[in-house]
Amino acid sequence: MNKNYGWIIVAALALLPLIPLDNMAMENSKENIEMLYHISGEFAIRWMTAVLTLTPIFILFGVTNLFVRQAMGIATAIWSILHFAIFIAAEGFSETFTQVNYVLGFVAVLILIPLLFTSNRKAMKRLKSSWKKLQSMAYVAIILSLLHVAILEKTWIIYAVVVGLGFIVRIPTVKATILSYRLKNKNS
Ligand code: HEM
Repeated sequence: MNKNYGWIIVAALALLPLIPLDNMAMENSKENIEMLYHISGEFAIRWMTAVLTLTPIFILFGVTNLFVRQAMGIATAIWSILHFAIFIAAEGFSETFTQVNYVLGFVAVLILIPLLFTSNRKAMKRLKSSWKKLQSMAYVAIILSLLHVAILEKTWIIYAVVVGLGFIVRIPTVKATILSYRLKNKNS
């Protein structure tokens, strides 16, 4: 498949679940609200975890695609903001500050907003070296999100393991070993 079509697959995977969600949002029952939290929260954390595996995948296999990366980043932000919007609609904005885990999630959402608006080539060129620094705030966002989910006693370990393995691959000495191994294999 052409390299530049990957983002269309990401966009389809990210947008299709919005269709049943739209029908559910019509009915304002307790079960429905719980299901909306569940679906939106799970997609938010899954996309966030997935986007953070892209750099380790690049280090391990040398595969990368800027459009796919951008589409996955946008999917993360949209699902997280939607999750928060559901909360505001169901409980009201001020409820955010009633529990530590909500505040942690809120800070994660706040971090995602500048990331969403700067995940394009124009911003990349304009911000130069600060762009990387800004994008690295995604690590803070995932840690806050994992804490949010862990405190809620929902599924978080699997995401923490994937993100943790990614962090190991990024350690400079581990990364250098992998890169030199790949280079040796390529040349032999
Ligand atoms: C202002 C920000 C946020 C608020 C107010 C919020 C609120 C909530 C609420 C009320 C629940 C349901 C709790 C329950 O069923 O007992 C929930 C669950 C969840 N949230 Fe958040 N959240 C926020 C941000 C985030 C972010 C940024 C992520 C991840 C990127 C996230 C991921 C999840 C996940 C994975 C669940 C568990 C879903 C399940 O398995 O049922 N949340 N959140």
